[in-house]
Amino acid sequence: MSIKEEIDKLTQELKVYQDKYYKEGVSLVSDSEYDRLTDKLIELETMHPELQHPDSPTKRVGSDLTNDFPEVRHTIPVLSLDKAYSDEAVLEFFSKSIQKEGGALSFAAEEKIDGISMVLYYEKGILVRAVTRGNGEVGNDVTPNIMTMHSVPLSLPSSVDIAVRGEVYLEKADFERLNEAEEDETKRAANPRNLAAGTVRRQKSSEAGRVPLTMFCYEGFWSNKDETPSDHLHILSRLKALGFRINPHLAFFDSDSAKAEAKLRDAGLEGEAYAFSEIGEFIRKKTAERKGLPYEIDGLVFKINELDVRERFGYTEHHPRWAIAYKFEAPQAEAKLLDITVQVGRTGRITPVAEISPTKLGGSTIRRATLHNQEYIDELELAIGDTVSISKRGDVIPAVESVIEKNSEGNTTYHIPQLCPCCNTQIVQKGGLQYCPNYQCPDQAKGRIAYFASTDQMDIETLGPKTVELLYNAGILRSVEDIYSADYSRAADLSGIGEKSIKLLEKGIKESLSRPFSTVLSSLGVAEIGKKSAELLVKSGFDSIDKILEASDRKDTAAFASIAGFGELTGSRIVEAFSSPELRATIEALRKAGVHMSAAQDETDEDNLDQIFSGQVWCITGSFRTFNPRTKALKEIEKRGGRTVSSVTSKTTHLLSGTGGGSKRADAERLGVRVVTEDEFLSMLGREEGNAENEDGQLLLF
Ligand code: IVH
Repeated sequence: MSIKEEIDKLTQELKVYQDKYYKEGVSLVSDSEYDRLTDKLIELETMHPELQHPDSPTKRVGSDLTNDFPEVRHTIPVLSLDKAYSDEAVLEFFSKSIQKEGGALSFAAEEKIDGISMVLYYEKGILVRAVTRGNGEVGNDVTPNIMTMHSVPLSLPSSVDIAVRGEVYLEKADFERLNEAEEDETKRAANPRNLAAGTVRRQKSSEAGRVPLTMFCYEGFWSNKDETPSDHLHILSRLKALGFRINPHLAFFDSDSAKAEAKLRDAGLEGEAYAFSEIGEFIRKKTAERKGLPYEIDGLVFKINELDVRERFGYTEHHPRWAIAYKFEAPQAEAKLLDITVQVGRTGRITPVAEISPTKLGGSTIRRATLHNQEYIDELELAIGDTVSISKRGDVIPAVESVIEKNSEGNTTYHIPQLCPCCNTQIVQKGGLQYCPNYQCPDQAKGRIAYFASTDQMDIETLGPKTVELLYNAGILRSVEDIYSADYSRAADLSGIGEKSIKLLEKGIKESLSRPFSTVLSSLGVAEIGKKSAELLVKSGFDSIDKILEASDRKDTAAFASIAGFGELTGSRIVEAFSSPELRATIEALRKAGVHMSAAQDETDEDNLDQIFSGQVWCITGSFRTFNPRTKALKEIEKRGGRTVSSVTSKTTHLLSGTGGGSKRADAERLGVRVVTEDEFLSMLGREEGNAENEDGQLLLF
């Protein structure tokens, strides 16, 4: 027998023994015979490394060579998850997704394993790389250590190219046992996750192999689109058939539980079936089960089942838009309540805001937290000087949750002042909330202007809250109707605004004249008319402001109320809003300025833009000074006839590359795709290079 034949034979034989033992618990040979064969194979492979099989069973044993974990680039997006901290937030994710898609959706719910995120790359069915998440673009290659894990197949029953995401973890019992056995107390890990993380990065894979790490897989990305299943449930069943370990604690949500059950069965999976309305029940059940599980979980992951929808929803820089993690614990921190200030919003609504000692929470430093309204303050019996607990429930707006310790200064429960802190008008009560009734109140006016100009509305690029504040205080811009007629050259003397910013501002204002009528309608700030309802109004025949004004003149509440999703109350509020002389004056001023007041005006402007990108396919990477969020750049491309895609392929013609872009640039270079910088792009658009305001509304100076 040649050496090659001997290696092949031993490899085959040991694979069978390993499979029997680890999958069925059956020993086909004695331990000593098994060790003898393994040693023999290791010896032959060491002498003839070129003859070693890539999925050799000796990889399970690991080696004493030093690992150096080279950095490698991921070929799939390895992102994190958006977070929710309440039943309502998960339900809102369901309903918003369904609304956005405009059709039925179903959702898989999985346990969120508290372990180490790992991507396994297989080429032609052979495990070639196991890579940590790293920064999402580049991770560490920890293949030798992962190969020692019996839950990770070294080769697959079919010759597929696939990337598999999953969580490497250590069971609680194994953690306790190993940690107790560790005599050096300083080397003991704080929790199973830490021990798993340490093991994944052990320098000797033979040592990593002694820790019984295991892995649940939860996502698969096939290189060949034709092989990709059409939904998540079938991804899971296919992964299972390929030999990956899938968490059996699966739940599935649909509009009713029978439908959910049918889909589980169709995919050949066991799991619990639920209706959307049962979300609260499900979360409570899992919360109760958590302690008794053999491994640690820190939440639940809800994922849209349908893959075509996932593709349409896409990703932000940080997370997929098609999934959300419900976390059992909202991040909380302790802080001292230094003061309470009162904000006046664009609708006159008064919101008390807690000014707290700077506190680190969920990755940022917090100085302010919302207190909602007077009722909320009363419920907490909150006084200045109290020590409070702060949470980041929605993960964006921090809130004061409870009082931990009362103040020692003798302060009593805080009361919102009687007079508007901005304009001194007597505050009025409306259904438990407080309002400043003065339409001319400066804070309200500033709020209306900033809202009108915001990204989601008329999108006037340089007119954020900070700039509005400067221009308002200087008497240059006092109302929405002033926007198109104000003399911005007077701003040249203001500190904080440069000549170039003024040019940009004027340009942005001019550009906003081409926004469609439905955007104009929602940017007026009528409480009942957001983006969606504005579109609905237009679709229902209210496709010009005059039609809306006429119906309001006739007090024709029913005309609005009969629109699907509107109702009586909304109808009468719309009539009331459009009867207000202030709003009418604003509308007439905007009309005079050339803002679209009917849908008929919409088409012409878009057509006027030169279709300079027609026939081109653009992709985008990195971040930009001028386009923040960067989807703004995509819009510019699409308005000029270009198509936009999310990854660089041979069909891509241009890559718009900002700072910090990653693998896409390498792909572009490899494929000979033209790489365009931000400055080049701006000059293609016929814009000068320049700065804008960032998302916090701060003016970035030249
Ligand atoms: S899905 C694009 N499912 O949680 C897919 N993640 O906080 C996004 N995690 O980095 C991940 N269990 O490491 C998903 N069943 C599960 C999970 C899970 C644990 C981890 C994962 C991710 C982190 C996000």
